[in-house]
Amino acid sequence: MFEKLEMAPADPILGLTEAFNKDPNPNKINLGVGVYKDEAGSTPIMNSVRKAEKLLVDTEKTKSYLPIPGAPAYGKVVQELVFGKGSKVMACTAQTPGGTGALRIAGEFLKKLKPNAKVWVSDPTWPNHNGVFAAAGFPVGKYAYYNPQTCSLNFDGMLASLKGMTPGDIVVLHACCHNPSGIDPTAEQWKQIAAVSKEKDLFPLIDFAYQGLGRGLEEDAEGVRILAAAVPEMIVCSSFSKNFGLYNERVGAVTLTAATQDAVDKAFSHLKITIRVIYSNPPSHGGSIVTTIMNNPELRREWETEVAEIRQRIKQMRELFVSTLKAKGVKKDFSFLTTQYGMFSFSCLSDDQVKTLKDKYGIYIVGGGRMNVAGMTKANMEPLCNAIAEVLK
Ligand code: LMR
Repeated sequence: MFEKLEMAPADPILGLTEAFNKDPNPNKINLGVGVYKDEAGSTPIMNSVRKAEKLLVDTEKTKSYLPIPGAPAYGKVVQELVFGKGSKVMACTAQTPGGTGALRIAGEFLKKLKPNAKVWVSDPTWPNHNGVFAAAGFPVGKYAYYNPQTCSLNFDGMLASLKGMTPGDIVVLHACCHNPSGIDPTAEQWKQIAAVSKEKDLFPLIDFAYQGLGRGLEEDAEGVRILAAAVPEMIVCSSFSKNFGLYNERVGAVTLTAATQDAVDKAFSHLKITIRVIYSNPPSHGGSIVTTIMNNPELRREWETEVAEIRQRIKQMRELFVSTLKAKGVKKDFSFLTTQYGMFSFSCLSDDQVKTLKDKYGIYIVGGGRMNVAGMTKANMEPLCNAIAEVLK
């Protein structure tokens, strides 16, 4: 049976990392996968995380199973991050293996409740959204989002798409730091998105993977909080891969909201069944790190400072990239990069240019032109911009 198979295509993002790792070019630059690099080009463990891990090693008493949705203390800190301290949003949270795990659990859960709904993702979106929701059995459609002419949000197109959806459909929204474009709606636009979602009875499924990497921990939650105040029910999928640097610990969460405690409790009982038949209960270590940091004022302060440093370095790299290209006489204006948030930007480079950058210069950019700005450093900026200037000639 296996011999008869054709090779499956490589993953558009993680497959690029595999190719990058095999590339013998000593000057190669990886702007593919969304992993933060510091000025030295490494992905360090945050100091707050290291300290929390030491505390855990010293105080952990057992390796016995967690409950199906993970530790209740974890759920509380996730809700505080998402909805703010003292929020009155009625919610329940389950720990999941990463943000992808959260999305897939949400997909499986929603398929049981809304078997005839369609899932809508932004055009463009993180490529894995298509795979995750198709695997959960949904037809997946695209709503307008990006205007390639202006390299900005096509908000009128987005609203028109939302208005054209069938009541009950599921709309996947990026809470902040849109992946792959880096373009987020303003608070005013979020209010309109929330109003249309409510009016059309759409179900918002929010992918919240970059909290703190855009404008700030609270600011990045603005859209989610506007939606939570407007619609009776929604789901938020969190990831702590990026803002806690816990990529390989796979720490995420799925949070359900509803209008009443009774509705939340009932929905949560079904979510637990969804989880039980897939991975039973989550691994403990990563979630415990997040809970330890959030509940220890000193560690929390240190973590918030570390997130701010990440955010500022990304902003600096955006500015340096734009000014370096300009200094090299590149005609195309890349200043749109400085108005975008988070790790990613659409470079507006064609697939041919992306291929030449990889084959000739060892520069890895995701197909479609998504660049991980957090992979740029002062040291790689010159060779990177030289190569981009060359391919744009
Ligand atoms: C990305 O978009 O590069 C990251 O979220 C990593 C992944 O799983 O694709």
